[in-house]
Amino acid sequence: MADNNIVNFPEGINIGVDYYPEHWDEALWVKDADMMYDAGVKIVRMAEFAWCRLEPEEEKFDFEWLDRAVQLFGERDMYVILCTPTNTPPQWLFEKYPEIVQVDKTGKKIQTGIRGHRCLNSPVYRELSKKIIVKMAERYKDNKSVIGYQIDNELEANHCCCDVCKESFRNWVRKKYGTVQTVNKAYGNNVWSGEYSDFSQVMPPMNENDKWLNPSLNLDFNRYASDSTCDYVAFQSDIIRKISPDKLITTNTWLCANMPDFYDMFNELDIVSFDNYPAITLPKDEETLYSHGFHLDLMRGIKNKNFWIMEQLSGIVGSWTPMSRAIQPGMLKGYSLQAIAHGADAVIHFRWRTAVSGAEMYWQGIIDHSNVPGRRYKEFCELCNKVKEIQGLSTTVCRNKIAILYSSDNEYAFKNQHQAQEMHYFEQMKQWHDAFTCLGLGVDIINQTQNLDDYKIIVSPTMFVENKETTANLYKAADNGAAVILTNRSGERDYNNKCIMEQLPTVYSKLAGIKVTEYDVLPDGMKVAIRDEQNNIIYGKRWCDIIEENDNVEVLARYNEQFYKDAPAVTRNKYGNGEVYYFASVLNRDASIGFAKIMAEEHGLDIVENLPKGVEITYRYGEKKWRFIFNNTEKKQEIVIGKEKITLNPFDMEIEVV
Ligand code: GAL
Repeated sequence: MADNNIVNFPEGINIGVDYYPEHWDEALWVKDADMMYDAGVKIVRMAEFAWCRLEPEEEKFDFEWLDRAVQLFGERDMYVILCTPTNTPPQWLFEKYPEIVQVDKTGKKIQTGIRGHRCLNSPVYRELSKKIIVKMAERYKDNKSVIGYQIDNELEANHCCCDVCKESFRNWVRKKYGTVQTVNKAYGNNVWSGEYSDFSQVMPPMNENDKWLNPSLNLDFNRYASDSTCDYVAFQSDIIRKISPDKLITTNTWLCANMPDFYDMFNELDIVSFDNYPAITLPKDEETLYSHGFHLDLMRGIKNKNFWIMEQLSGIVGSWTPMSRAIQPGMLKGYSLQAIAHGADAVIHFRWRTAVSGAEMYWQGIIDHSNVPGRRYKEFCELCNKVKEIQGLSTTVCRNKIAILYSSDNEYAFKNQHQAQEMHYFEQMKQWHDAFTCLGLGVDIINQTQNLDDYKIIVSPTMFVENKETTANLYKAADNGAAVILTNRSGERDYNNKCIMEQLPTVYSKLAGIKVTEYDVLPDGMKVAIRDEQNNIIYGKRWCDIIEENDNVEVLARYNEQFYKDAPAVTRNKYGNGEVYYFASVLNRDASIGFAKIMAEEHGLDIVENLPKGVEITYRYGEKKWRFIFNNTEKKQEIVIGKEKITLNPFDMEIEVV
């Protein structure tokens, strides 16, 4: 899967580690490198936060220690990924250029000494970042061991509110709308005397509780903040590309509080990389969704190709929160293989040895503080050995017939105005991902505007903020014969996050063939009984749309209580050659699995009956078809697929060519 111009792209499936040579006495490095080699490590990521060691004084660079570390791993045939160390500018830099410190939404400067506390738009910071990136890229451009770069670390959307950012946001708004009159109209600023008479009045949402501010402003600020981070990523990647067009460039992302738009952020980068910390304590309640595969599928879908894990769970997590339980036997290896099963080609574990100083001394690496290799090191070696056996996977990819649409606009708008207690944008996406996973089916999670021609089932949950391209694609997909799932809270807002003055689901009414006359909002913990066609009682939570009775749609379930007893709760509309399901409430788990089954059968997908919950089956395709069965539970599980009987211990995976 190497990109055309990337030389030295690692072949095969590789396991790696994150290593911080600057944290350790140099005398330890050789021993560490030898142990990594013995284990089977192929990739080492370094220099992530090492700016103060690489440039101890302004313009006085010291890369010699990094040269020695790179050489050490190169001599052992390991590939090196270097990070631009820009996440943590050194203290001298803050002292000399205090204007680069981020300002939070209350107007306060963030305390230095943590990380990520610099303003991505600050011209001084950019200039100084450029200098160190150029030094790094020049130094290693001909070094064959250094195969690529990670830009910064876990970049969030840039919510800085310093003077530079205020101006940059104003310019973004001006460029988008041209005149203040257009902004006023787009935002509906006639409410609460919000009308601007000059662009100088446009401000980022700087209120401790931005929920009191105009949601249109909030959504645009989120879009701007994402654009601003993407611009920063492009700024760094341009510098590196000019010097090293043959090395791969990525940035490590995660599901954080202020997520950038992933599709934009990775647009110019070669691969997606993800920091993967699956749950150590699994939920006991069957209704609490847990499918870590969801995150992996979301990552794969960003570029619709295989991705990397840049940080992988290796032990207890904690430090700024109480520590988690110890990772259970099998988790270190199993979760790594799970990532591969969902399309990862490299899994780099965080971190080699647990830090003995700094704020993260209880976020465990593979080796403990004592430096005595233990249970986790042993399991890590087993993982490396397993991966040697499955190198045939290297040119294979995942492809599925079910898609879930993701939109960062929906995430931003939903987070800004919670629709009901504990109702989150991701919930219904995860619910449907889980439902199809329980049937042994793979799912792609893709950008909402992506072409849908290859999919038979398209899940478009909570399409809250309108995107005309997405709406048109969904009508077309149904017309062409796909099953489309729509849910409550769809068609609610226009593109500017204002309510649409039509009966819900507004722009989706024709597609779903229904009209919502009213809704009920349920507090967390409340369930409303619903009966299906066989009179089985299922239930809904969070939200109940009340749908007007109409003869043109089939009613697959009705409410069984409340003032809307007997009103439709699940409907199916024939649209063109396809059909559109509307879920008025958030159903319980078994009920959504039941409806997923109806759709999957209708569309001829190969389901596995009675797959134990928490067991997932995924495939990678190449010359051969590889099947992965992962037991993501703490119990031994018996899996029956046709005539095959497979027993898997907790967190065990079976990998087979089928
Ligand atoms: C990640 C981060 C790492 C490390 C890790 C464990 O989010 O990128 O640098 O902090 O979490 O906390």
